[in-house]
Amino acid sequence: MKSLLVGLLCAFWRVQGDVPAKCPEIISKSRWGARLPLEVEYALIPIQYVVVHHTVTPTCTTEAKCSELLKNIQNFHMDEMEFHDIGYNFMVGGDGNIYEGAGWHKVGAHTYGYNSKSLGLAFVGNFTENLPEVVQLEAAKKFLECGVQLGELDEKYKLLGARQVSSTQSPGLKLYWELKHWNHWSKTP
Ligand SMILES: *[C@@H]1O[C@H](CO)[C@@H](O)[C@H](O)[C@H]1NC(C)=O
Repeated sequence: MKSLLVGLLCAFWRVQGDVPAKCPEIISKSRWGARLPLEVEYALIPIQYVVVHHTVTPTCTTEAKCSELLKNIQNFHMDEMEFHDIGYNFMVGGDGNIYEGAGWHKVGAHTYGYNSKSLGLAFVGNFTENLPEVVQLEAAKKFLECGVQLGELDEKYKLLGARQVSSTQSPGLKLYWELKHWNHWSKTP
C-alpha cells in the first residue's frame, strides 16, 4: 500500500513537472528604448551555458528607471566598448522584469571565450555586498526554466558566475554565493 502511494505521488509529480511554467513577460528592446544592433550573429541552440553577470550600476525598481539604466549601459557597450549591441543576452531588473538584450539564440559580448556557447544574463545592480531583490531572483529562475522549455537552453545547461570563467568579480560575491544553490550551477565549466 505504501509503495502504491509513493508510486502515485511520483506519477503526480511527473505530470506536474511537464506542465510548462508560464514564461515571464520580456520587455522588448523597442519597449525599453534600445538602439538597433549594428550587427547580429546567430548562436546554435540549445545553448550549453548560462553566464551570470551584474551590471555594476545602481539598482532599479521601476520599468522607467531600469530602462534608463539599460540605455546608458547599451550606449557604453556600443560607443566605448565598440560592441555591436548591448553585450548581454538578457537583463533582470530589480522591478522583477526581464529585459531583452541581444536576445535568444544570438551571440552576445559578455564573456570572452563563451559568447557563442552561452547566454549572458545580467542582474541590474551591484551585488558585491547585497543580494538582488527576491522578485529579481525569482524572475531570473522562471526565465531560465522558460528558456529550457522553449528549447533555447539545453535541459542540462550549466549555470556559471562570470568570475568562474573570466578575470572579473562579476556577478558580485553575494549573488555568486546565491547562484551556487541553484539547480544548474556547476563548479566546473
Ligand atoms: C560595488 O559595490 C562594492 C561594495 O559595496 C563597492 O566597493 C564598489 O565600488 C561598487 N562598484 C561600483 C562601480 O559602484
